[in-house]
Amino acid sequence: MRVHIADHPLVTHKLSVLRDKATPSPVFRQLTEELMTLLAYEATRGVRVADCEVETPVTTTRGVKIADPKPLVVPILRAGLGMLEGMTKLVPTAEVGFVGIVRNEETLKPTTYAERLPDNLAGRQCFVLDPMLATGGSLAAAIKFLFDRGADDVTAVCLLGTPEGVQAIDALVGDRDVSLVLGAMDERLNEKGYIVPGLGDAGDRLYGTAG
Ligand code: PRP
Ligand code: URA
Repeated sequence: MRVHIADHPLVTHKLSVLRDKATPSPVFRQLTEELMTLLAYEATRGVRVADCEVETPVTTTRGVKIADPKPLVVPILRAGLGMLEGMTKLVPTAEVGFVGIVRNEETLKPTTYAERLPDNLAGRQCFVLDPMLATGGSLAAAIKFLFDRGADDVTAVCLLGTPEGVQAIDALVGDRDVSLVLGAMDERLNEKGYIVPGLGDAGDRLYGTAG
């Protein structure tokens, strides 16, 4: 598995504001979207394109357009939803599938409560979005859904990761074509399974504690 950790002062700056417990939800949502757009630039480096012809006001030239089948973007509900707009801004022709996964805060095991994905993902580039890669259980469950539908080209984008989480995903994917793009690699998990230093509960900070 290829792992890319963003090394850009704008990403680090925006993450620092996101980590701050005083940052309110509206600002948190805006920054999550902006961070996703910055990470999308790296995550889409291998997006498939097809040659095309372009008529400029001056002449005809060769260009490229995003190839068919269009990329599939899959935010993991809830918190991944906060990243969706940042991705589709950059790749507006992408299609969107959904997976709803919640982690049991006692056992740290994920449960899937919703899924809306195409049946056949063979030959389709898939981009999975979730701000937090903690134990890796939730992202692993989402990637497994994609593998089960034939996906063989998956890129996951997370704002924060941990060495434990990366190891869990690496063990799942084996030698399949999977990339992981992280805004930052944090130190570890604490005894409650939270990322340290982290930013707290991403879903709650984005959307409150109603869900
Ligand atoms: C959070 C986060 C990830 C998961 C990470 O979701 O958005 O999906 O925890 O933890 P893991 O790597 O140990 O599985 P949560 O379960 O809190 O659901 P939410 O997005 O609905 O708030
Ligand atoms: N999920 C979160 O939202 N935050 C963490 O630190 C770990 C899992």
